[in-house]
Formats: sequence, C-alpha cells, structure tokens
Amino acid sequence: MRNMLVTGGAGFIGSNFILEALKDQGKYNIINLDILSYAGNLENLTSVEEHPDYHFEKGDVCDKETITALLQKYNIEKVVHFAAESHVDRSIETPEIFLKTNVLGTFTLLECARQYWSQLPEGYQNKTFLHVSTDEVYGSLGEIGLFTEETSYKPNSPYSASKAASDHLARSYVHTYGFPVLVTNCSNNYGPFQFPEKLIPLLINNILNNKPLPVYGEGKNIRDWLYVRDHCRAILCVLENGNIGEQYNIGGHNEWTNIDIVRLICKYMDEQLKLPESKSSSNLITYVKDRPGHDLRYAIDATKIKRELGWVPSETFETGIQKTINWYLENKEWLSHTTNGSYQNYYKEMYGNR
Ligand SMILES: NC(=O)c1ccc[n+]([C@@H]2O[C@H](COP(=O)([O-])OP(=O)(O)OC[C@H]3O[C@@H](n4cnc5c(N)ncnc54)[C@H](O)[C@@H]3O)[C@@H](O)[C@H]2O)c1
Repeated sequence: MRNMLVTGGAGFIGSNFILEALKDQGKYNIINLDILSYAGNLENLTSVEEHPDYHFEKGDVCDKETITALLQKYNIEKVVHFAAESHVDRSIETPEIFLKTNVLGTFTLLECARQYWSQLPEGYQNKTFLHVSTDEVYGSLGEIGLFTEETSYKPNSPYSASKAASDHLARSYVHTYGFPVLVTNCSNNYGPFQFPEKLIPLLINNILNNKPLPVYGEGKNIRDWLYVRDHCRAILCVLENGNIGEQYNIGGHNEWTNIDIVRLICKYMDEQLKLPESKSSSNLITYVKDRPGHDLRYAIDATKIKRELGWVPSETFETGIQKTINWYLENKEWLSHTTNGSYQNYYKEMYGNR
C-alpha cells in the first residue's frame, strides 16, 4: 500500500479525487492535508471519515515544519498537490494570497519532499510528486487552435500567473535535482462538491433560489469542460503510468460558450423542477459587466494522455451535466450549508479546536 499525501483534499477536485482513489481497496493510504479555507469542506468526505485508509490533518502547505513532520510520520511516497487559491475573480480582488498559497506553498512542498526523500537510503525510488495545474497558464486562444503541452505559457490573471509560476518551479526541480515530478494541466471542471461561486453550481443554486443568473459580457467566452471524476481518473492514470518529468494536458473536447451553458442548465432545471415556459429559469439570465482581462477561449488538446496512457473521459457534457444537476438537487443540504457558511463548523464538531 502506498502512503499518499493529498493537499487541498477538502476542496472540490481534491475531495472527488480521494473518493475515487479509495475505490481501489488497499492501494493507497491517504493523508489529506488541508487548511480548510472558505473553499475546503470536510462534509465532502463524510462517506470516508471512518475509512481505515483515510486520515485528515489540518495544516498549511506553506508551513515547512508541518509538512516535514507529515512526510516523516506517514512515510509518504506519493504527493498529489491540489491545494491552491483557485477562483479567478478572487485573484483579481486579492492577489497576494494567491501568490502565497500557490507559489510559496508549492515551493515549500517541493522543497520539503526533496529534502525528505533525498536522504532516504532508496532516494527517489517509487516516489512521485504530482502537481495539479490548469490550462489557464497558456493564456487565451483565438477562434481556432488548441493548447498542447508545447504551447508557451502566457497567463493573464493573477490566478493563472501564480499557477504558471508553480508549474515552472515544479519543472525546475526535475531539471535541477532529478526530482520525480509530474505536472497535469486540465480544463474547467464541473461536478459534485463544487463551491457555488463557480459558474455551474452558482447557476443551479441561483435557479433554486430564484436569483439572477449573471453572465459576463455577452456570454461569448468559450471554456472546455470536463466532468470532475474524469479529471480524477486522469490524475490517477498519470500518477501510476506517467513518465517522470513530463507534463500532460487533460480535457474532454467539450467547448461551450458561457451563454450556451447557461441555456442548457436552464433547460434541464426547468425539466427537473417542472417549470412552465412562462416561469422558465432562463428569465433570470442577467448580463453583467465583463471580468477585466477575461480570456476569450480555452481548449485543450488531450492527444498525449490518450495516446501514451490510454485515458479517455467517460462522460460527455450532456451526461455529466445531468449527473451534476441531479447531485445538487439531491444534496440541497450540502448546498445550503456551503452557501450559508455553516459547513465551517463541521470541522470543530468533528475534531474540536486543534
Ligand atoms: N476547478 C477547476 O476547474 C480546475 C481546473 C484545472 C486545475 N485546477 C487546479 O486543481 C486544484 C484544485 O482546484 P479546486 O477547484 O478543487 O479548488 P478549491 O478551491 O475547491 O479547493 C482548494 C482546497 O485547497 C485548500 N487550501 C487552500 N489554501 C491552502 C493552504 N495554504 N494549505 C492547505 N490547503 C489549502 C482549501 O481549503 C481547499 O480545500 C487547484 O490547484 C487548481 O488550480 C482546478
């Protein structure tokens, strides 16, 4: 059994990843390190709370002592690094925390793992550090073309710039120290447990609460969408079969304009909620001032991971979005805890004040 440190495992993708990885009985012993920021929610993991191969540790990826102690305590062999500040709009308002968590946090984790692993008798053998990143590091595309692993980095927001910096650090550790790093760059994710400030859960939640559905500019921006569990399976695939030192793009060839997504969700929500045409949720669509520096289009070329590692997504956007809507409708309590902040008491109830 491999001891795996997952950072940011109480967030959207991290918690889905832990649930996915634990499906493979006896393969991984998972230690989830999370600071439980506004985006971290332990309610995502209630189903595995008592699992013998799952352990939660509250802590900061920027804290060298905490990380070194965890690496030693659990004899960590695999690190999967999700922890980050992840919301572009917040990075425009408060960029500093993005630099700290995303750049300094990644550096601290890399450096602690390098120091710990390099002094072991077996060195880097069987060790892997997988850094989870985004397609936003590549900047914006015009109407044609796709991001490949060779596309040069041109980040446009403080969020994507901080992720680009962390990718460069990870890469430098391979070349400077021969450190066993893998980097994945994925397109926009959607699915269960996503904090409802991000587009898709925000739309679902606002429709349920009869609130406006904000659309930036004319809604023409294009994003490439992937169901979160497909992303998690891709990360496991790269972790287990990827070539050390390499980078893998992950995406589902699912390009949608924002306005088309809003319309699709309105259509499915109207069906689910049995709303008559006169009361259609599309009446709630409200165009708002565009985000500054809003990238026009992202689209991933995922040929490399498909060809070399055999990963393919299992959901189309239509099937994934229906699953996602059903999940939020069946988990209204989670949605209400998350939107009213009461989920943050959950940690205290479970673990006290440590
Ligand atoms: N959401 C997407 O569409 C997407 C796409 C591609 C890549 N990514 C990347 O995947 C990763 C996870 O994204 P997400 O959407 O799940 O984010 P999220 O915001 O939902 O979760 C981030 C988690 O990190 C934790 N965290 C924040 N600061 C921390 C710190 N200093 N120490 C320890 N934990 C800390 C938070 O508490 C939270 O649980 C990020 O690195 C992000 O850049 C996200």
